[in-house]
Amino acid sequence: MNDKINTRKLDHLKVIAEDKDVERSGSGFDAIRLTHRGLPELDFAEIDSSVEFLGKTLSMPLIISSMTGGDSDEILRINKNLALAAEETGIAMAVGSQRVMFSNPKAARSFELRAFAPNALLLSNLGAVQLNYELGLEHAQKAIETLGADGLYLHLNPLQEAIQPEGDLNFANLSEKIADLVQSLDKPILLKEVGCGLSPKDIELGLKAGIETFDLAGRGGTSWSRIEYHRRARDNDDMGLLFQDWGMTTVEALVQAQAFKDRARFVASGGVRSGIDMAKAIIIGAQVCGVAAPFLVAAKQSAQAVVDQIEVFRREFKTAMFLLGCQNCSALRNNSSLVI
Ligand SMILES: Cc1cc2nc3c(=O)[nH]c(=O)nc-3n(C[C@H](O)[C@H](O)[C@H](O)COP(=O)(O)O)c2cc1C
Repeated sequence: MNDKINTRKLDHLKVIAEDKDVERSGSGFDAIRLTHRGLPELDFAEIDSSVEFLGKTLSMPLIISSMTGGDSDEILRINKNLALAAEETGIAMAVGSQRVMFSNPKAARSFELRAFAPNALLLSNLGAVQLNYELGLEHAQKAIETLGADGLYLHLNPLQEAIQPEGDLNFANLSEKIADLVQSLDKPILLKEVGCGLSPKDIELGLKAGIETFDLAGRGGTSWSRIEYHRRARDNDDMGLLFQDWGMTTVEALVQAQAFKDRARFVASGGVRSGIDMAKAIIIGAQVCGVAAPFLVAAKQSAQAVVDQIEVFRREFKTAMFLLGCQNCSALRNNSSLVI
């Protein structure tokens, strides 16, 4: 049995735990200055942070971004804790790439999360480039069925594949394959990057393929180039360091994406690290935010540790809403009067 993918997922967790500089900073949120209301004319208790997203109501605009899955007790525990926490707090959760369950069927159990999160919005995940290799419609359907998912993330990771010793680099004509999948699948497909941002050209191609939701996943948080640098085949290969800050920041990607705001909705992720970052992302046009790496340490501990961390995000986000005089997320979204 080919267990390379499973081993790779474990390698990633190890690198993230050992190299704090995998977290790059510089997502662009710090440069955005917001106004402040000394007289917000609001009762904090009446602030409503909920949003509608893909047919479900989230208690606040937050997704636990795709991280992991595989055949190991540690990975099983992480995914179970994230799912339990998403359910308890009313936010969404995406799983890591489910490709591993097609090379190692035992990995499927790490994606069988619906029992832990009966109501939460759950999103499957596969690498889009695999549509040019080994995966197709039936795998996408199986991935969704295993998770009991509400939709499927297709991730785009050309930089990671380019740095990986064993990377898959045929990204030719992918948007046609994505369009075929959109046509055949009865659940929505979301297109995401993994930390370099999606450009207007990418969004244009995605829209043509029938995609309506784009997770911009910009630079400023977890650097996959740097993670893969640690897994390089040759000791003198430093390309992963050279490219560790490649791409658009999350804020740059979000600002550029606004040209398509009438036809698409956006998830802001990549370096979203506080409820203030969340508020800024919604103000400049995101529907919801995604956070990955910051939940990892808590997820290794317990579901309660993840819940506690989500509640910190909630308190920060609602405090920002309060101080901006915004009672709900619609009052924040695309409200340029809140930016100095
Ligand atoms: C441990 C880990 C594993 C990840 N695995 C995946 C994956 O399998 N599929 C995917 O689309 N993104 C994956 N990502 C990328 C995240 O979903 C996210 O796009 C990126 O880390 C930026 O968010 P952050 O800065 O909050 O970590 C992973 C991130 C982490 C930290």
